[in-house]
Amino acid sequence: ESKAPLRNKLIVINAGPTYEAIDPVRFIGNRSSGKMGMALAEAAANYGARVQLILGPSSQDSNNPAINIKRVESTQEMFEATTAAAQNADWIILSAAVSDYRPKNPANQKIKKSDGGMLHLDLVENPDILKSIGQAKKDYQLVVGFALETENAEANAQKKLDTKNCDWIVLNQADDKARGFGHDTNEVLMISRKGQREKLELKPKKELAYEILDRLIKHHTA
Ligand code: C5P
Repeated sequence: ESKAPLRNKLIVINAGPTYEAIDPVRFIGNRSSGKMGMALAEAAANYGARVQLILGPSSQDSNNPAINIKRVESTQEMFEATTAAAQNADWIILSAAVSDYRPKNPANQKIKKSDGGMLHLDLVENPDILKSIGQAKKDYQLVVGFALETENAEANAQKKLDTKNCDWIVLNQADDKARGFGHDTNEVLMISRKGQREKLELKPKKELAYEILDRLIKHHTA
């Protein structure tokens, strides 16, 4: 079969963590490395797709000419860049570890320590990028979300498929040292809206990326 199964497809991928400013020097963030998303971008490009990668603060980089990288910092910036890019996309793969909340009023100057007290931060909810794109999804578009859970993983994944209107959730099994955040290896369970399941065993993220795409291609290209 074709060596370029994704030729003529525009694939939008988001990846990495987000940083939510507390003040000019501090932020709320998470341990996402962006490795899984970059691996997906490279694999999709090698399969012939054009890739628009919206990347949060991450040391990942690529010089693949088929991958266009837009770097963002906050969830709000990631929301704007990803929803704009998604308009024209065929497949949308949202692997970013987005912050659900952000400080309500980031300080303009560095916050000083005050005597023996507590510091309270009010947090407000960020937009849900996957939900917004899922709800605006066109018939020909394929929307894939990622999930990382510490409990009730499958039930929560199922709920996400429904409430966020996506076609697949890739569930990270991030409960031990070799899987998930920051690691080079991962193990996932893919669950579709239609009840299809694909289990991919522990392997390097670079290989896993091809296998995730292979499963999507199997189910969604003629
Ligand atoms: O509900 P949960 O955050 O676990 O869902 C994870 C999926 O939702 C991921 O694909 C993530 O990129 C996406 N997400 C998002 N916007 C948010 C929170 C999560 O797009 N504000």
